[in-house]
Amino acid sequence: MPEPRAAVKRMAPYSPPTGGRDGKLRLDFNENTVGCSPAVVEFIREKVSASGLSVYPEYVEAKAELAAFFRVPEDSLLFTNGTDEAIQVMVNTYIDDDDDVLLLRPSYAMYRFYSEVAGASIREIDYRRDDLSFPLDELLGAIRPETKAILIANPNNPTGTGLDTASICRILDAAPNAAVLIDEAYFEFSGVTVLPQLDGRPNLFVSRTFSKVYGMAAMRFGCLFSQPGNVKFLHKAQSPYSVNTLATLAARAAIRDCDYVNRYVDEVLAARASAYEGLHQLGISTYKSEANFILFEAGERAIPLRDELRNRGVLIRDRSYEIPGCVRVTIGTRAQIERFLAELNSIW
Ligand SMILES: Cc1ncc(COP(=O)(O)O)c(C=O)c1O
Repeated sequence: MPEPRAAVKRMAPYSPPTGGRDGKLRLDFNENTVGCSPAVVEFIREKVSASGLSVYPEYVEAKAELAAFFRVPEDSLLFTNGTDEAIQVMVNTYIDDDDDVLLLRPSYAMYRFYSEVAGASIREIDYRRDDLSFPLDELLGAIRPETKAILIANPNNPTGTGLDTASICRILDAAPNAAVLIDEAYFEFSGVTVLPQLDGRPNLFVSRTFSKVYGMAAMRFGCLFSQPGNVKFLHKAQSPYSVNTLATLAARAAIRDCDYVNRYVDEVLAARASAYEGLHQLGISTYKSEANFILFEAGERAIPLRDELRNRGVLIRDRSYEIPGCVRVTIGTRAQIERFLAELNSIW
């Protein structure tokens, strides 16, 4: 048997519970709970052909359209196979064995995952336990001249808490030698972005995904932005065809139907207000969310509650292994949240 690298042997296996979700109310993965714009499916149907599928992907048209949509120069943009590949490419470009990487805890699991695969020396800063707000002073204090990367989700998953632009700029100033990723997977719900800061910030990397508000998690399409001098190196570390043709078609159609996304955001924000109200009426403590999910305190009942809701056809996510007593519910439409609250009411 071949011997795996020591870094891989050290890793804990990571397998999110993605099986058996069909037909259930999926409030567990922060996806769009009603699906992508019908215009996306129509465009793929119209464009897909046997001969088209026989050709390796071409990105010329899509690059121009997406760069215009995001208001960045084309050479500041890299297409990726979801945010996950954006993280992987960044880590592959900048991190060697034992390099110093700063992460927040708890946060999106893939930052740690790819840093571990790379053999990085990882230090984690805890979100503040009282309100799960961002530990800005603690992070600034932890940055060293040799820090090679800092990976931050804004808003953060699973806490839902966000960071303002001025604070991000302080981190960028304090870590001039580090590649700083601001993962804006939930940007559409928070409205906070540092994408316009790219110009003057050579250590800034921003990622966006089409897996969340756009309802295209199955397509695996994301974008990674940075200054052209950085993107040149990211390109070198990426497989040339990792984003497939159907995903590229889907993204082009999705950005043409902004109304669909805007309407969905409005619906989720209204549903989030109802969810807070319903949870508070039951005496349940919650954390302030800038995204399409809420983390709440279920105490000892976290896992039984998740299981009982699952038996009733409603999926939520246990997070008690990283924040004791906490579970996370994705916010969908008002009708879906009504159903969630009704089921919760009957078992709480
Ligand atoms: C902060 C954050 N980034 C990225 C992702 C995943 O994005 P993608 O599907 O684009 O790989 C998630 C998914 O849960 C997330 O919470």
